[in-house]
Amino acid sequence: MDKGTGLRPVIWIFALVLVCEGRVVKVPVGPLVHVEGQAVSIRCDVSDYEGPRDQDFEWSLILAGDKSLSLVSTFDDNFVDPSVRDRVNSGDISYNKLGDAAVELKFKKVRATDSGLYRCSTPSTDSFISGNYQADVVLKVIGDSLKVAPAIPKSAVSEGESVELQCNTTRGFAEHTFLSVTWSIRKGSSPLEEILTFGPDNKIKVGRNYTQRYTDGGLQLDLRGGGFYGLVLQRAKPSDQGEYVCMAQEWVRQGEEGRNWRKILEKSEEMGEVVVTPTELQFKVTLTASLNPQSTSEPTELRCEVLDLLHLQDGRLGVTWSYSTNTPGDVSQKKITIASVNEQGALIASSEYQQRLDSGDIAVTRRESNIFVLRMLQTRDADMGSYSCAVTAWKPAQQSGWGKAKEVQSAPVTVQWTPKIPVLRVAAHRVREASTGGSTFEMSCQLTGQNLKNPGYSVLIRFEEILGGKSRKVLSLSQDSVLQLEEWSEPSRIDSVVLEKTGQLEYRFRLYGAQVTDRGFYYCDVTAWTRDQTQDWIKAISAESNKIQIAFVHTGPVFNISIHSEANNVLPGDTVQMMCIISVLDASPNTGDMAFNVRWFQNTDRAVENGVQPLISMDRWGVVTKTGSNDTSLERTDQHTFILSLHKIQDRDVGEYYCAATPWLLSPATGAWNKEKDLISASSFLFIKIELWESLKMPVGYGLTAAVIAGLLSVLLGLAVAHCCFSRNPMHTPRPRNKLMDLEMD
Ligand SMILES: *[C@@H]1O[C@H](CO)[C@@H](O)[C@H](O)[C@H]1NC(C)=O
Ligand SMILES: *[C@@H]1O[C@H](CO)[C@@H](O)[C@H](O)[C@H]1NC(C)=O
Ligand SMILES: *[C@@H]1O[C@H](CO)[C@@H](O)[C@H](O)[C@H]1NC(C)=O
Ligand SMILES: *[C@@H]1O[C@H](CO)[C@@H](O)[C@H](O)[C@H]1NC(C)=O
Repeated sequence: MDKGTGLRPVIWIFALVLVCEGRVVKVPVGPLVHVEGQAVSIRCDVSDYEGPRDQDFEWSLILAGDKSLSLVSTFDDNFVDPSVRDRVNSGDISYNKLGDAAVELKFKKVRATDSGLYRCSTPSTDSFISGNYQADVVLKVIGDSLKVAPAIPKSAVSEGESVELQCNTTRGFAEHTFLSVTWSIRKGSSPLEEILTFGPDNKIKVGRNYTQRYTDGGLQLDLRGGGFYGLVLQRAKPSDQGEYVCMAQEWVRQGEEGRNWRKILEKSEEMGEVVVTPTELQFKVTLTASLNPQSTSEPTELRCEVLDLLHLQDGRLGVTWSYSTNTPGDVSQKKITIASVNEQGALIASSEYQQRLDSGDIAVTRRESNIFVLRMLQTRDADMGSYSCAVTAWKPAQQSGWGKAKEVQSAPVTVQWTPKIPVLRVAAHRVREASTGGSTFEMSCQLTGQNLKNPGYSVLIRFEEILGGKSRKVLSLSQDSVLQLEEWSEPSRIDSVVLEKTGQLEYRFRLYGAQVTDRGFYYCDVTAWTRDQTQDWIKAISAESNKIQIAFVHTGPVFNISIHSEANNVLPGDTVQMMCIISVLDASPNTGDMAFNVRWFQNTDRAVENGVQPLISMDRWGVVTKTGSNDTSLERTDQHTFILSLHKIQDRDVGEYYCAATPWLLSPATGAWNKEKDLISASSFLFIKIELWESLKMPVGYGLTAAVIAGLLSVLLGLAVAHCCFSRNPMHTPRPRNKLMDLEMD
């Protein structure tokens, strides 16, 4: 029969008693579970009674077959059964009056054999027997069988691995009791810190410092049953290092409807120490400049040192060196990678620094296992800025290869000095003056350089016809002593200019046979170059000298050039002649021999300045050169007249013509030929005349012939038609005649 249905009549009676306001004797709801050897007290209360306030109590143990074993009485010392007298006398079993209406039965050290049904009775002091005079409660005394067997299968782990904390718990008696298991950690001398408690009643309580970790799935329970309680710390951290403690507790429910938990047993075991090896570098990286340049070209050496290598174990270190400009107020601070050393120890240069690393001007090396060095043999001004190193720790990856474990950045180190600004000065002075045409001009340029290391100089002679006007390059001497004519391209005068190095810092320019056209301003344009490691020249600074003038007085004659053309309207196929006449307007006394270089041009604007080839030309020795058709010729009829002949004129010869002449004078003083300024004539237009009749006679002739033939044919056709019609139909009206007239009119 069901226990519940059996209890129902009892509840009914109890309810009836309460209604009747009878005596109530109450003991706790059992079973009361206690552990062997522990002190136990069972309380008994009485209420709703009549008679004296102070009530008496008796406790007895109910044995099988309705027998009972008297234990203690508050009013009868002889009440105690002889079998337990010793325990009562020794005080192992006793009672304690808590008040007028309450007593507790006490065991100093309860025994397993003390398990049983205990009855608290009160003798009646009521006028009527009413209510209950006794109450029973079950006491269950269990053995201390709770055992904890802890184990940590792997107590030394690397950071990121998981730690399993096994806490096997067994107990002999499981009825009415509940188990909880708590894992805690002790770090050094700190107090025990609770991680997680499982139970009682399958509840999970997480330690205050572990809630986030639990939420993140970093704490996992492994409850596979059979007394196995496991807690897995996922992704172990260095802070997980410490002594672990496992505690098992046995609980019973008590109070009304068992709402409260009472702990009856507790066992704590040291699980052992867990060591977590950090995989990450803690470690600190310092960057120092062991060589800091104080001026350009001095060496720089930076040491990047990893201070704590304890946890690297089988890991490897790599480094990345970076540079950023140190411009004040520049917030962008763009970092440029110089080079890096990877986990294999291989050097990877950035494209910006590849050349300098290849040439050895920059070296990235490793000294000892924890020191990386960046060295610049010759630090450049552009190298000033801040440098930093980033050390990367690599760990063997799970499958193969290497995985980046951590990167630590050093603080930046500044490499800076006050740069000595290179200075270059060039002073030109006249050595020989060209006082007349044909004479020699010579100037020297003296250089002064400062803050230039192993410099080389390139010198360019420039010419300006008027001060500040368009400058023309004459010739140059490079830093490697290569002489080059620049815009000095006159074929006959190639050898008239010379530039040479005449001293450590002195250059000389010479111009032989100075011409009128050479008059103007000459100066040296000098560039200082320095060499770096690669032996490449690097431009340092440029400077221009003062200007030296060639300004001899022109004493030659004054010329006039003109063009004469008689035939402006010529017929195709004719020959046309045009004269280029050079006259001397003002012959100076010392004018000697003269010769002319004459060129004829057609249809070209500003041909002389633009270097356009002439149609035909005659040099000062009388040699004729043609570029156009073969049907042109040029002849000199006297010293000053040059006649251009155009033979067999065609349409393409129509256009503008002009001549240009360059006079050359023989200086009686020097015996040299001097060139005068170019003379350019006005232009003359050539037309071709075509007769009107010549152009019309053919078309008019054909037209007339065609008209006569058409007329005759019309008349013949008309006559033929008229003849036919009249002979076939004599009744016909004179209308066809009109038609014939129409035809004739047509
Ligand atoms: C804990 O229990 C498991 C499974 O029952 C067993 O394999 C393991 O050996 C036990 N550990 C200890 C320390 O008793
Ligand atoms: C949580 O951690 C802090 C710092 O480690 C410690 O001082 C504190 O006692 C811990 N709290 C608990 C409840 O263990
Ligand atoms: C130059 O010759 C042209 C043509 O004969 C003439 O018109 C001009 O006046 C001359 N110029 C001088 C400066 O004599
Ligand atoms: C000019 O004449 C020469 C010899 O008669 C001939 O070889 C040449 O091809 C001609 N040139 C032109 C542009 O007609």
